[in-house]
Order: sequence, then C-alpha cells, then structure tokens
Amino acid sequence: MDHSRAPVLEALQEFRRRGDVVFGPPGHKQGRGVDPRVADVVGRDVFRSDVLSLNGLDDRRQSQGVLAQAQELMADAVGAERAFFSTCGSSLSVKTAMLSVAGPGERLLLSRNAHKSVIAAVVVNGVEPIWVHPKFDGERHLAHPPEPEDVRRRLREHPDAKGMLLITPTDWGTCADIRDVAAVCHDFDVPLIVDEAWGAHLPFHQGLPAWGMDADADLVVTSVHKMGGAIEQSSVFHLQYDRVSAEVLKQREDLLGTTSASSLVYATLDGWRRQMVEQGHELLDTALHRARRIRARASEVPGLRPMGQEVVEEGHAADFDPLKIAIDVRDLGVSGMQASEWLRANRHVDIGGSDSCRISASITHADDDETESVLLDALRALVEHADDLEQQPPVRFPEPSALELEQGMRPRDAFFAPTEHVPAEQAAGRIAAEMISPYPPGVPVIAPGEVITAAVVDYLRSGVDHGFLIPDAADPSLKTLRVVRHR
Ligand SMILES: Cc1ncc(COP(=O)(O)O)c(C=O)c1O
Repeated sequence: MDHSRAPVLEALQEFRRRGDVVFGPPGHKQGRGVDPRVADVVGRDVFRSDVLSLNGLDDRRQSQGVLAQAQELMADAVGAERAFFSTCGSSLSVKTAMLSVAGPGERLLLSRNAHKSVIAAVVVNGVEPIWVHPKFDGERHLAHPPEPEDVRRRLREHPDAKGMLLITPTDWGTCADIRDVAAVCHDFDVPLIVDEAWGAHLPFHQGLPAWGMDADADLVVTSVHKMGGAIEQSSVFHLQYDRVSAEVLKQREDLLGTTSASSLVYATLDGWRRQMVEQGHELLDTALHRARRIRARASEVPGLRPMGQEVVEEGHAADFDPLKIAIDVRDLGVSGMQASEWLRANRHVDIGGSDSCRISASITHADDDETESVLLDALRALVEHADDLEQQPPVRFPEPSALELEQGMRPRDAFFAPTEHVPAEQAAGRIAAEMISPYPPGVPVIAPGEVITAAVVDYLRSGVDHGFLIPDAADPSLKTLRVVRHR
C-alpha cells in the first residue's frame, strides 16, 4: 500500500482549499465564529480543521472512502487484518471490545489489574467478570500481568467464558506473555482481547516488547495519544482471525460511540501512521537510546532506583517497555507523589505517573536532547532537596493476597443496588457499591460487588493520609464508603 498517502489529511486539505461553506455542525463554522480570545490560546487552525466526516471530510455517501482508506492503511502498517479508529479514547474502546465478545450475563475473564474503564465496562455491559489475578510484586508494591497458566486455570474452571481481556503493558511498563496467553485462549477456542492502551508504538520497532497482533491476539485496543503522536482521545481497534466478527464489533461500537467523530483525531491518527511507517524505526531507535541513557544516568544518582530489565530476569513480568522510566524514590524518604509535586512546582516538569513508591516518565519519539537534560537535571535537583520535603505517614501495604477480594455480588447488581454510606471502620464485610481507584494509575483497589476487608480499608485510609487521590470514591476522604444497603 502507498503509505506516503494520508487520506484524512488530504481530504481536510482539500476541504480547506475548496472553501466549503457549511450549514451544519460544528457551529463555530471552521472558526468564523470563534471568540478571538479562544483562538489566541488554542490557535485558529484547530477550528479550521474541525469538520464533520459526512458532508465535510467526505460526501454524504462517503463515496470517496476517506476514513475506510485511512483505516486500511493503519491495518497494513501494524500487521492487523482490520483497523477501526475511535475518537472516544480507549476508555470507550475497551467497553466496546468487551461487548463484542461477551454480552450481558455472559462470562469474560478479566485481568484484575485492569484500568477503571474495564471495571466500568463490567458495570455498563452487565458482563460477569471472572477475575484473573495479577502477579503482585511485594518488594516493589506493583501488580504485573497474569501468566498463561493463570488464564488456563480460570478457563478450565469456567469453560463457558467467552474470552479473556489482558492489560499489557501496565502503566509502569511491565508486559504480559501475550503469545502464550493467546495460545491458551485459542486452545479453548475463545478470543484474546488486549488492552494495549500504552502500546501504540510497539509495532514500529523490534527492540520493543511484542505487539498484540504479532503475538496472535484477536482484538487489540491502543490509545495512540499515550505513547504515540495523535491527539488526546485517539484510539484504534485492531482485529485479526475470525473469533471476533468485524460486523459485531462495528455494530456494538455504534451503540456506544459518538455520531460526531473528531476530524482532528482522525487526521492525527492518519498522520501518525504515515510518520511511523516512514520514519518510525529511526525515531524509536533514538528514543530507545535516549531512554537507556536516562535510565543509566538516573541510576547513578544516589537515592534513585529506575526499574529495568531485572523485573523480567526476576520472573515478575514477561517483558518490559524500556521507554517507561519508572523510578523508585523510597530511598529519598519521600513518596512518588511528593516527588511528582515537587518536580512540577519547582522545575516545571510534569511527570506522567506516580504512586507511593515511584514516579514514571514516558519517553517517546518526541523527546530530544533538551527534554532529556531537563529531566535529568530535575531529578538531580529533587535528590538535593529531598531532605526539605516533609515525611508523610507511611502507607500500610497489606499482604498481596489480601488485595484479592471476594466477589459478593455481580458488579452491575451492586452498583445499581440500594446503597448507604457506612463509616470506614464499619465497612469490613460489606459489599462495595462503588469503585475505589487511587489515581494515577486508576486501577481500582475495590470494585463494585467485592466484599470489603479491614486490611484493604486500612491500606486505603493510610494511603489517603499519605497523599493518594481517590477521585471516583463517593467520599474521596474515605471516612465513609458507599456499600450495598442491608435488606
Ligand atoms: C490500561 C489502560 N487502558 C485504558 C485506558 C483508557 O484510555 P484513554 O485514556 O485513551 O481513554 C487507560 C488510561 O490510562 C489505561 O491505562
């Protein structure tokens, strides 16, 4: 295929060249009506390129196949049979992917270290989750993806399960053995969905962990805005084999998706594919060298412990994305969250993720020598000033097995049941009616329907005192919890 073409960008250019006058949305009419104070901040071109697909990028009948061609090029670029763009972020794409494999009341295996959008899908879709617990790494206080044998055991226990959803890479860059998990799923003749929100760059360099389509997954969802170069909310479904029907996927996507897709998202997805096919190897090669350098220099700074390949050698993960620089800062006597706040306030460096133990910086093709030295200088400054930061009360981590909560009710039934708030001290033994997800990374510690334990409440409350943010809890202070009302 001719990857020098970019059908959406070309259609947008052509639309602008023709100077079409539009009598439909968007009401700003390609910027004619934009308040100059808005244009001053975001730029007039944003509005000029904000065009509907129908009677905009393409005609009413979509007869030029602008989007279809762009999607075919994307599929070809990453080795998928089909690709579909979504402008609603992977938060929506994972819901659609799950819905295209399991409908209401049907069972689906789900890795329990899932992002909150997956747990939300369980509530919205009414699917019955069969949790596959991740591998807890007690020293690092991290959850890594589950292993193929964990998936096989759960499929044997639940032969009626319709498929499996795996999350890889994790927010911290550790990766699953997708190929062997796919083989297990295929032994049971069910599809493997991979939430590869953090993996849009993986198809474009051999030095990166295996990419879902290459590793035999059936349906892969990526967020190109995370590690790739398209704008926020850009997400792609990739499909191969015949275990998930493209027709079913499209129809279920239509249930949830927007009828006003953003041309800016489509155009930047299209441009990212062209850039990666033409220059991806070289750009990612540079990024990989840069990440290696940053990791090496950071590890020379006393008090900083960047996670590296040892996480694979120690058997915690099957692979590791070297472009994720997760640095343990506990030796400095500060939390990752404090480090992140200090870096923003004092060095104007905004770190991608942080938790009680570490910070995480994503390195992409967009970094350069300047950003590399800004990051390293800021990290050295953090170490120099760490003693000035106030010590936070410690997080009382439970035993890893204590994080595997019993399922007392289906998540959907619990979420929509009559509820009440109980003081945290009285929550043990009650069934949660809400999600409780420290953010970032937004992986729920408690999901609706799970039986709350004293150990988990103690952990979360010590976390709040330490600085966790829990935006999805009805009471983010966790003085009370929203639980299913006693009958
Ligand atoms: C593993 C995972 N899946 C899905 C999502 C949701 O993606 P998006 O932000 O594109 O909606 C995220 C977001 O952080 C994520 O980490």
